[in-house]
Amino acid sequence: MSIANASSLDGKVVVVPGGTGNVGEGIVRAFLRAGATVVVPSRSRSRLDQLVKLIGPELAGRLTTVAAGYATFDEADQFATETVARFEHVDHVVASVGGWWAGKELWQIDADDWQKVFVDVATSHMALVRAFVPRLSEDGSYTTVAGFSAKKPVPSAGIVSMQGAAQLMMREVLTAELDGRGRVNDLVLGPIINRRRPSGAPGWLTADQVGEAAVGVARTPSIAGEHVVLNTDGDLDKVLARMTG
Ligand SMILES: NC(=O)c1ccc[n+]([C@@H]2O[C@H](COP(=O)([O-])OP(=O)(O)OC[C@H]3O[C@@H](n4cnc5c(N)ncnc54)[C@H](OP(=O)(O)O)[C@@H]3O)[C@@H](O)[C@H]2O)c1
Repeated sequence: MSIANASSLDGKVVVVPGGTGNVGEGIVRAFLRAGATVVVPSRSRSRLDQLVKLIGPELAGRLTTVAAGYATFDEADQFATETVARFEHVDHVVASVGGWWAGKELWQIDADDWQKVFVDVATSHMALVRAFVPRLSEDGSYTTVAGFSAKKPVPSAGIVSMQGAAQLMMREVLTAELDGRGRVNDLVLGPIINRRRPSGAPGWLTADQVGEAAVGVARTPSIAGEHVVLNTDGDLDKVLARMTG
C-alpha cells in the first residue's frame, strides 16, 4: 500500500477544480483514498456524473460534485462561499484547470484561441486563488497544476506555454505575498498516462501517481513555495520521501 493510501486526511475537505479532467480524476481518487472529503465543481453535470462512475462506489461516498463554474471572480466567490457554508472549512485546494491545445504558431492565433486557451484559463486560476486562498484553514495548502510547457517553449502550443508560465508566476507572487502565512505550491508535470492516453514511455507518471504527489504536498508542511517537478516516477519517490504525519 502506498503512503497516500493510508487514511491520513480524515476529516479534511479538499476542493479539486479540474477534478473532472484526465489528470484531475487521479487527484480526486488519491485524496479520497487518503480519507479526505473531496469537492469537485464543473461546468458540466455530465462530466461530474462520468467522474462519479470512474471513481466507483467504494470511494465516491466522500465525493461531492457541484455543478458550479469558476470562470469569473463572482462565480468563484459564490462557489467558495457556498462550499465553506456547507462543509464549515476548506483545508486544501488542488487546481488542475485547463488542458492541452496545439496547432498554430503565435502569429496565427486568433482572438477566439487567445480567449479560450489563455484568458479563460488564466482568469479561472486567478478567480480560484482570490476565492479560496483567504478561506483556507490555517494548516491548509493551495496547489496549482501546470505542465512542462510552462517552462519550455513548445512550438505551435505557445499560448499554452504562456498561460502556464503566468500560472507559475501567480504561485510565486502568492508565496511572496503570503510570506509564511499560507502554503502554496505548484506541480509541473511531464506527459501523464491517463484515461485518454492509457500508455506512455517508461517512467512516465499516471494520473493516480500525480494524485499521490498532490496528497504528499498537501500533507507535508515543509513543502512550501515550491515548483514540484514531476517528470518521472523517480520525482514522485522524492516527494513521497519527504512526507510526514
Ligand atoms: N494530461 C497531461 O498529460 C498533462 C501533462 C502535463 C500537464 N498537465 C496539466 O494538468 C492540468 C489538467 O490537464 P488535463 O489533461 O487533465 O486537462 P483536461 O482533461 O482537459 O481537463 C481540464 C479540466 O479543467 C477544467 N476547466 C475549467 N475551466 C476550464 C477552461 N476555461 N478551459 C479548459 N478547462 C477548464 C475542466 O472542467 P469542466 O468539467 O468544467 O470542463 C476540466 O476538469 C493542466 O494544468 C495541464 O497543463 C496535463
